[in-house]
Amino acid sequence: MTRNRSIYVCGGCGYQSPRWLGRCPDCGAWNSLLEEVPAASPAPGAERGLLPAVVTLADVEAGSEERIVTGLGEFDRVLGGGLVRGSLVLVGGEPGVGKSTLLLQALLGMEAAGVPTMLVSGEESPAQVKLRARRLPGARDGLRLVSETRCEPVMACLAEHRPAVCVVDSVQTLWSDVLSSPPGSVSQSREVTGQLLRVAKGKGITLVLVGHVTKSGDLAGPRVLEHMVDAVLAFEGERGQPYRILRAVKNRFGSTNEVGVFQMTGSGLRDVPDPSSLFLEEGAASPGASVVAAMEGTRCLLAEVQALVTPSGLAMPRRVTRGVDHNRLAMVVAVLSRRAGLSLGECDIFANVAGGLTVEDPAADLPLALAVASSFRDRALGDAAAFGELSLTGQVRYVVHGDVRLQELARRGFRRVLAPRRNVEELRAHGAVPAGLSLEAVTDIRELVRGLIG
Ligand code: TYD
Ligand code: MG
Repeated sequence: MTRNRSIYVCGGCGYQSPRWLGRCPDCGAWNSLLEEVPAASPAPGAERGLLPAVVTLADVEAGSEERIVTGLGEFDRVLGGGLVRGSLVLVGGEPGVGKSTLLLQALLGMEAAGVPTMLVSGEESPAQVKLRARRLPGARDGLRLVSETRCEPVMACLAEHRPAVCVVDSVQTLWSDVLSSPPGSVSQSREVTGQLLRVAKGKGITLVLVGHVTKSGDLAGPRVLEHMVDAVLAFEGERGQPYRILRAVKNRFGSTNEVGVFQMTGSGLRDVPDPSSLFLEEGAASPGASVVAAMEGTRCLLAEVQALVTPSGLAMPRRVTRGVDHNRLAMVVAVLSRRAGLSLGECDIFANVAGGLTVEDPAADLPLALAVASSFRDRALGDAAAFGELSLTGQVRYVVHGDVRLQELARRGFRRVLAPRRNVEELRAHGAVPAGLSLEAVTDIRELVRGLIG
């Protein structure tokens, strides 16, 4: 018999090495390799079981996917209309963002609607769960709780009680006897998820797993879990801000384009069905501020982009961002310096999106550039909103969903909008420009900056 030798597994990406290494050669994380003892390999011949049945597509009964509505409108929306029966969903997010609150609230909603539910909590005691539930709207006492961290009893419990929906908070606290590695390690998480997967599919129980994110912000640490589950949702929010965004990173039963917006209140999370102007600040017409119409999934959110440009005493001037990508700011600043002739090289530049929103839409380039230019020249932009991507040549490029952005801006009372020329042509051709709104075509950042700010 061969001895099971230890292997070293990266906690971030699952890379395996026979030796310990200080840095993972695969994902580059430092000090992320942990020792694990691999499971005993099955006896030879064990894999030679019965031949699986082969069917043609025509023989397969499709059955309609049955959805369980959680009652939290924004959660249902991100899932694509509720939880699919028998599916496995992973919800990831930083500690304190509100994962436990979100899922407890969803469970209570389903329980109230007569869906048999269960909460497996390895992180909080039943008393803690009760205290939390008291703060939530419509709390009932019927929710079944299991306080357990061993996987096998949890499985037995599921088989015995057959809830329609079970939440496991969190997958990293569960561990299986099969492996000797510690809870939370890559192989334990994978093993536990694999076991739960079989129950979910076999018994038609919908399982929602809570997963922690790694230091670097990767969802659920080991990416291996992402491949095993049907849907991966990321719950995001800025500390100190009440708004939370739920994003579908992967969804086998719906679109990955949807986002849900919530507000954290003293009594749980509240849906924000019309979030477009949540992130708009009042009195935006000061130097260094501009308004972006950014797409989040199929919805358009309006937010204020702010920039502050100040002379720097440092050899390496600072570039600090919140809510926009650091590299995006670097590119916008480079384009402004080279193509619009602004000498930003010796300035500290700070960029921020108000309200804790993170904007990934490339259409934020143009408003960001305008905010930087406006702060540099100390001239306010007035009440104009903008959208458009910036190319390295200084051209303003077409972006998708021009009509949705324009409608949203018009609805929020904007009277002047700067947009890429091709968008403007398209919108005019389709008669999609709301009455009373002045739409200005932009082609070149240099002309625009000169015209607007001087
Ligand atoms: P929690 O759901 O425990 O976050 P996670 O499970 O992601 O770690 O709690 C998030 C925070 O929300 C916590 O600091 C307390 C706060 N909170 C409220 O503001 N209102 C509420 O009604 C509840 C239940 C929590
Ligand atoms: Mg929690």
